[in-house]
Amino acid sequence: MGRKFFVGGNWKCNGTGEEVKKIVSTLNESEVPSEDVVEVVVSPPFVFLPLVKSLLRSDFHVAAQNCWVRKGGAFTGEISAEMLVNLSIPWVILGHSERRALLSESSEFVGDKVAYALSQGIKVIACVGETLEQRESGSTVAVVAAQTKAIADKVSNWDNIVLAYEPVWAIGTGKVASPAQAQEVHCELRKWLHNNAGAEVAASTRIIYGGSVNGANCKELAAQPDVDGFLVGGASLKPEFIDIIKSATVKKND
Ligand code: PGA
Repeated sequence: MGRKFFVGGNWKCNGTGEEVKKIVSTLNESEVPSEDVVEVVVSPPFVFLPLVKSLLRSDFHVAAQNCWVRKGGAFTGEISAEMLVNLSIPWVILGHSERRALLSESSEFVGDKVAYALSQGIKVIACVGETLEQRESGSTVAVVAAQTKAIADKVSNWDNIVLAYEPVWAIGTGKVASPAQAQEVHCELRKWLHNNAGAEVAASTRIIYGGSVNGANCKELAAQPDVDGFLVGGASLKPEFIDIIKSATVKKND
């Protein structure tokens, strides 16, 4: 089906200049499958983006963790998509649940951000996911479908979008979704894309899983047919991120 495995490392609001250099040198020294097998993107805080970009091996890429919803201007504290383009930052993470929950980003706002970033030529890791309450009330699929619809309403081309399914209850909690739970939602998301964006979009869009992925649980998750990679938080700051990248080889005999 030709969906290249994708592993993103979301460093969140962590690190000093020294720590960042250390992580990059660990990544640079690691032996991982080639770019044909796995696409690796790390996402440091904004202030470290130029440093990481300048030091990082050329087969790995960088992502910003957010950007402003429209063209830059009088928006104190924001970073525009144009600035990311200016620094040759190819990717951005949008709609992360921490921003949805703590900074009240609505699904519509996230949809607008995705559309604007794409219009500037930036590729997007777009995050969706349900809370524990929503899962327990049986509305998981409806919630992630609505979040995906808010994006689909604003974009016509999915070539440069990776969809990240990140159940909120699994993020940073050590409580990973089971492979079956992840597969079920990924499969529903792919069906949603099929019915609403077309068969080609459904077949080609990478749907990656995020939420307490680590070196020990990644292989079993990676083996699920609709899991096309990972968005990794805590473990992306540690050497085990390399094991997660290597889990791409699980797909090799497809
Ligand atoms: P976690 O975070 O791996 O620390 O659970 C994942 C994410 O928020 O992207």
